[in-house]
Amino acid sequence: MSYGPDQILEGAGESDYERYIRTPELLSLQKGPGEWLHRDELLFTVVHQTSELWLKLATSEVSQTLDYLEKGNPKMALRLFPRILLCISYCHDPLDMLEQMSPWDYQQVRRALGHGSGFDSPGFNSLRKLLPLLWEQFEKSLANEGVTLLELFLHHEEHDELYRLAEALLEVDERMYLWRIRHFKVVERSIGAKVSGTQGTPVEVLGRLNAFLFFPELWEIRTTITNHAIAEEGEN
Ligand code: HEM
Repeated sequence: MSYGPDQILEGAGESDYERYIRTPELLSLQKGPGEWLHRDELLFTVVHQTSELWLKLATSEVSQTLDYLEKGNPKMALRLFPRILLCISYCHDPLDMLEQMSPWDYQQVRRALGHGSGFDSPGFNSLRKLLPLLWEQFEKSLANEGVTLLELFLHHEEHDELYRLAEALLEVDERMYLWRIRHFKVVERSIGAKVSGTQGTPVEVLGRLNAFLFFPELWEIRTTITNHAIAEEGEN
């Protein structure tokens, strides 16, 4: 049965809502009770599938941001950063849901995963490829404006747009970092710290990746600024 005015879209589904959102396909992408090794497979799948969708949107927004930067339009690029940041948050917060699984129940879910590993997440891997390109564009913008990174930070009011771009990049890096740390705690809480993942990588190796930064220069510049201030004070 369908409600409201006449439905006009073609395709599978009872209503235009179902046909446009493609709910029949979407909701058939999770195993049903007859196929579960454990009922928490649904929880596990929903968190992963929704994360992949947010990462897909994040990738599309980063690629549009790159396009704007390449075309010399930082104003429009800056407008997309809140979207990218929200996508990362929407992957961060659902990690809480995974902690609703008991470690023992997760061991039953794990049997269904084969060698499935987050290392093969298409969403993360596409972001991992694209984010360094943002840094390349940022460096080109610095060169075009004729300033070093330190000069940009010391005279941020004169280079407002570029400074805001630097801070937006840092924010992306910080949120990706926070996701990694949070994910690591979920992993420790679910399977422990001294075991290996489904592809045989020790969890300790995952822990070492926590320190990874996409834009290390934007973190190091903070130290340079502090040292610059100390040196200036020494001169007076
Ligand atoms: C109970 C939940 C989870 C557990 C126990 C878990 C476990 C792991 C483990 C052990 C690794 C290391 C690689 C391996 O051996 O497979 C890993 C990596 C990874 N996982 Fe998860 N994971 C969980 C949830 C998630 C979720 C919801 C996502 C979202 C997409 C995700 C994405 C990733 C990514 C992207 C990596 C690679 C990290 C990097 O390269 O820095 N994981 N996970």
